[in-house]
Amino acid sequence: MIDLLDRLARPFLYALEPEDAHGLAIRMLRFAPLPPVAGDDKRLTVRVFGLNFPNPIGVAAGFDKNAAVPDALLRVGFGFVEVGTVTPLPQTGNPRPRLFRLDADRGVINRLGFNSQGADAVLRRLAARAQFGGVVGINIGANKETPDRIADYVRLIERFAAVASYVTVNISSPNTPGLRNMQQAAVLDDLLARAIDARERVAPNAGPTPVLLKIAPDLSLPDLDDVVGIARSRRIDGMIVGNTTVTRPKSLRAMEQAKEAGGLSGRPLLPLANRMLAETFVRVEGAFPLVGAGGIDSGASALGKIRAGASLVQVYSGLVFRGLGLIAEIKDTLLAALGRDGQASLVDYVGADAAAVTAEPWPK
Ligand SMILES: Cc1cc2nc3c(=O)[nH]c(=O)nc-3n(C[C@H](O)[C@H](O)[C@H](O)COP(=O)(O)O)c2cc1C
Repeated sequence: MIDLLDRLARPFLYALEPEDAHGLAIRMLRFAPLPPVAGDDKRLTVRVFGLNFPNPIGVAAGFDKNAAVPDALLRVGFGFVEVGTVTPLPQTGNPRPRLFRLDADRGVINRLGFNSQGADAVLRRLAARAQFGGVVGINIGANKETPDRIADYVRLIERFAAVASYVTVNISSPNTPGLRNMQQAAVLDDLLARAIDARERVAPNAGPTPVLLKIAPDLSLPDLDDVVGIARSRRIDGMIVGNTTVTRPKSLRAMEQAKEAGGLSGRPLLPLANRMLAETFVRVEGAFPLVGAGGIDSGASALGKIRAGASLVQVYSGLVFRGLGLIAEIKDTLLAALGRDGQASLVDYVGADAAAVTAEPWPK
């Protein structure tokens, strides 16, 4: 069924303007008669953040911003879904066009700017499906015009803790002016202190809710030192490395689209994203697990991401170019590696190449 859906839909989706294609893909997932969640091979199970993931492959934030299809995404084989980014109040984001495909590079540039239906709508949908189980996290962000950014995050944690498996504090999207400045040490320390405080305050009713921090791949290494130090001292549960990049690698071939403002994702992001992941892994020293995102578009690149330091991986742009078949390909590759190496789980791969990756020349 998934294979059929993929083969019928992809040529058609490709012909559409990228944002229309995305809207149609969401509608198809919503209405397709999908089979129930199929069990995964036990060797793909990952336990981190106190949660059980049936497999380590997640949908990255931005694909299902408004929680329209989390259960369909679990049914097509993902081990977890990160809904959002959701903002407290609805906002429309930047004017269209604001999403561009770099076909020659298998990359995407977006400057959506947190288009969100807002917390009320997303909360309603997550509450309605909370009893279905499965790992569904929520990625939260501040409204563009908010008078108090940190207060936005605090309020969203309080509201979503009861219906989300985990909460990701997103301060790394390049399309909300000034947002990434929250990665700066003094602001970040205040933000994380108040975020963890909010989580603790609602825990008696909401239960335990892991809080993750999603960072930009464009941080300098001294800034990364600070970010990891603060994340560790504030005892957050994990980090996602990372978001889209505002840099434009020299390798890009789709020159026209590459000039568009916004965050670049997909294959051209892979070297930088892996480098930042490995740099983060060596700094975290096992204090918490990492989620690796950026440039995964094959089984090999997913395994490489785990070896660079990720306990879990997330994909978005790879789905645009490879379709849903990418999920099965990644699982096959991971299981083949486990079989070949006689391993019972993925844990021994996590970070196995981190030191080696940090010793390579900086990606250009
Ligand atoms: C169209 C689009 C929208 C995105 N929206 C969000 C978002 O709302 N919040 C967020 O944290 N990341 C967002 N991202 C970033 C992805 O979650 C991911 O970190 C990044 O794209 C790298 O992964 P990829 O190379 O597999 O796409 C978005 C990415 C794309 C392509």
